[in-house]
Amino acid sequence: MCGIIGYIGDREACSILVSGLSHLEYRGYDSSGVALMEKDNVNIYKAEGKLINLVEILKTKQDVISKAHIGIGHIRWATHGLPTTINAHPHTCNCKNLTLVHNGIIENYQELKEELTKEGCIFKSQTDTEVAAHLIAHEYGKTNDLLLAMQSAVKKIKGAFAFCAIHKKEPDKIVVAKRNAPLIIGVGEGENFVASDIPAIIEYTKKAIYLCDYQVGVVKKDSIKIYDDKNQLIENKIEYLPFEAIAISKMGYKHFMLKEIHEQSDVVRNVLSSKLTDIEHEIKFDEFKLTSNKIKNITRVQIVACGTSLHAGLVGKYIIEKFARIPTDVEPSSEYIYRDTIADENTLVIGISQSGETADTITAIKQAKNRNSHIVIITNRTDSTMARLADSLLPVNAGIEVSVAATKSYMAQLISLYLLAIYLKEQKGLKENEKEIQNLKHELITLPNKIEMLLEKTDEIQRIAKKYSSYKDFIFIARGINYPSALEGALKLKEISYINATGYGAGELKHGPIAMLDSNMPVLAILNSGIVYDKVLSNCEEAKARQAKLIGVSDYIAQKDINLFDDLILIPAVSDILSPALNIVVLQLLAYYISEYLGKDVDQPRNLAKSVTVE
Ligand code: G6P
Repeated sequence: MCGIIGYIGDREACSILVSGLSHLEYRGYDSSGVALMEKDNVNIYKAEGKLINLVEILKTKQDVISKAHIGIGHIRWATHGLPTTINAHPHTCNCKNLTLVHNGIIENYQELKEELTKEGCIFKSQTDTEVAAHLIAHEYGKTNDLLLAMQSAVKKIKGAFAFCAIHKKEPDKIVVAKRNAPLIIGVGEGENFVASDIPAIIEYTKKAIYLCDYQVGVVKKDSIKIYDDKNQLIENKIEYLPFEAIAISKMGYKHFMLKEIHEQSDVVRNVLSSKLTDIEHEIKFDEFKLTSNKIKNITRVQIVACGTSLHAGLVGKYIIEKFARIPTDVEPSSEYIYRDTIADENTLVIGISQSGETADTITAIKQAKNRNSHIVIITNRTDSTMARLADSLLPVNAGIEVSVAATKSYMAQLISLYLLAIYLKEQKGLKENEKEIQNLKHELITLPNKIEMLLEKTDEIQRIAKKYSSYKDFIFIARGINYPSALEGALKLKEISYINATGYGAGELKHGPIAMLDSNMPVLAILNSGIVYDKVLSNCEEAKARQAKLIGVSDYIAQKDINLFDDLILIPAVSDILSPALNIVVLQLLAYYISEYLGKDVDQPRNLAKSVTVE
């Protein structure tokens, strides 16, 4: 992970770097640092923890930093070494001529370190990045040319990286390189920028070059030169960035997460717009590039994703199998890539990713692409690496999600999957479930209003959150299409409150987890009216018999069953098939209010990052 930024021009570099880093904080917040070059001198400032700590240090150095017009910066999500100041980037070599920031993981850093130690390199940190800094400096010693040094160093490095380097003897340039980690070069007038992501530079330029793997770039104030791995100069491909410089604000909400939960009704409207207009017409999916004949030939679907996106994929399996009648497997990308997967040109491989940059999912997609499968990418970032790999790109348009814990992007993914499942069914010309499909379309159209109704009565959820906030463990249970809701609800709770929460298929409770039940283990059961209601209810009885406190989330509880529950959260009436889209709002709010009540850092929970660009 991590975020990197670079600036070269006439403005004060430091403020541009810090502003850029503030937009990259979603990529990690273990430490931050900047290196500022003034003539042939480089000053490095670093701080442990959030960016604000670095800002405080920089405030005391104003007279020095205001003179620098070239610099690089970094925000860290620790992979190698503790999140300390010494491990914070930028890193340097023995003579401190070269300074480097890095995003990624260098897999052969131990071997390189051993070789470089024999050459006299002295290491101060535990990071793999410092090894790369010494390696590039070592190569520089052979040629006295930063471009050549970078080119030869990256050939020796195994793993993923985006590098941004400056050198005291070449104070007119920043040299960049990448492999399996994002890096863009922002194109300005008499100034240029480097960044891991668009929001870091969008305030200054709307034009950028997306550096490709194995390329190395030399970024000067008034020129950008990019070389391929054979050292051939290649033509710059300048693209217009798909972002406006927007002031991202909490709009009066205490946290971004709460704001983003409340935005979900509009997110649903956005996803539906132009695709589903009324219940009589078929779903329109212009972004889906397979013809209906090719769709008829699809023999299997494989969904690859991580974290919250994986849970959306699990709901996807349920509805694609039900409506499109295509066998569907869902797998964490990180596992998919270590199997000799069976996929061919008749396999539809769907990658789901809010960021579009998750390294494991990118690798899984590339693996499937090599097997000639049709690649569908469902993402919130049309400018991402994954989007560029897509044969069919389905943008979810949920708007920027700032809170690290995903909420509205999950909702957007869910709705996209409902539309996709219905679309596949309609393109295949299947006639089963017609009535149910009409009903589902109607429910999708009215879903935003139901989300709004639910959001109007958060007081009850807040009260329950407070009541249960002192428990150390939680179990979430559900069956059928809400099993993924149980997983996602538990994930949300542990991500932002650090309470040990696990989701189970309710039927599995008796096969082990029941051993943990007593009065200290609350059980949250999702039981919508529908085919699994009675079964989940029986599992609730089993939990109650072990003195577990029971919270029910449902659109309907029979009068005779009400007393079984210690607390009940009722959602608006909804069919079982669409209920994950309403239940999740309750679970997001419950996690939010517990975390908020416990005084945790809701938007930036410890150890997490929003974009995970390492495997
Ligand atoms: C990280 C985030 C999770 C997210 C997961 C997958 O772990 O903290 O919230 O679900 O990555 O990210 P993606 O961008 O691929 O959806």
